[in-house]
Amino acid sequence: MEYLQTQGISLPRLGLGTFRMQGDACRAAVESALSLGYRHIDTAELYGNEEAIGAALATASLPRKDLHVTTKVWHENLAPDAIRRAFDTSLKKLRLDHVDLYLVHWPSKNMHLPAIFETLMKLKGEGRTRAIGVANFTVALLKTVVDDIRAPIACNQVEYHVMLDQTPLRRYLGQKSIPLVAYCPLAQGKVASDPTLTAIGRKHGASAAQVALKWLLDQDGVAAIPKASRAESQKANLDALNVGLDDEDMKAIAGLPKDQRCVNPAFGPAWD
Ligand SMILES: NC(=O)c1ccc[n+]([C@@H]2O[C@H](COP(=O)([O-])OP(=O)(O)OC[C@H]3O[C@@H](n4cnc5c(N)ncnc54)[C@H](OP(=O)(O)O)[C@@H]3O)[C@@H](O)[C@H]2O)c1
Repeated sequence: MEYLQTQGISLPRLGLGTFRMQGDACRAAVESALSLGYRHIDTAELYGNEEAIGAALATASLPRKDLHVTTKVWHENLAPDAIRRAFDTSLKKLRLDHVDLYLVHWPSKNMHLPAIFETLMKLKGEGRTRAIGVANFTVALLKTVVDDIRAPIACNQVEYHVMLDQTPLRRYLGQKSIPLVAYCPLAQGKVASDPTLTAIGRKHGASAAQVALKWLLDQDGVAAIPKASRAESQKANLDALNVGLDDEDMKAIAGLPKDQRCVNPAFGPAWD
């Protein structure tokens, strides 16, 4: 597994997304992923699966230092006392004494950024999360958090895949050496049937999904968290790390439409 070094943590570049997986199915998927070698699990209080993930982590009984667990606080819980309550609940459900990364899941119109990051910094200072970060933050919001508040942001988790351009955001994150964690890295499965990606995959004995993942993981400072419930897909996504894309492939991928957003940004402020 390859890692990104950020704010004192080693972030495995390929993680398992868990949105829309719950209960026993989620537990089984996480157990399968851990047995295949995944060491990075992405969840959120919103997903309603932290208990199932906690059960899977307990069963696997891997050394805690080998595991990376990210969870997130929902935008309705961004008052300092609400963050604390949400955090305590997440930790208890996950059966952990600390998480590796705690993210603000979505920005909210009424949020008070200095108070939010003061609270997150305290959780980090107490050793209850090893690092803090954000998701779905625009460049404008990142500038406030990073340049004004000077919060030690370990990542921005945003939608990013072969069919969505994120150039301005990547440029800013690159300047600040902040990793981009790509969610919906398979465009919620749509990449699997794309003819251009299928043709590239055929050339390399790989699938279209593997091509899409390797395109992300070939980029500096990018990690990806594909969700896969089936063991075969989990394994295929790990094996994507071994696919080699050439200049011709990169040119063909550059020609794909780059405006195919899966997640509605109306949840938060407009993107810039
Ligand atoms: N921070 C945020 O606001 C935010 C928003 C959205 C998502 N996320 C995170 O990002 C994760 C990933 O995003 P996502 O779940 O929306 O979409 P995704 O990972 O782009 O796509 C998941 C879909 O792709 C399929 N798939 C997985 N591996 C495949 C393969 N090798 N070949 C063909 N199909 C494959 C899955 O099928 P099966 O499940 O049937 O195996 C599933 O239907 C989420 O689970 C969540 O953890 C974060």
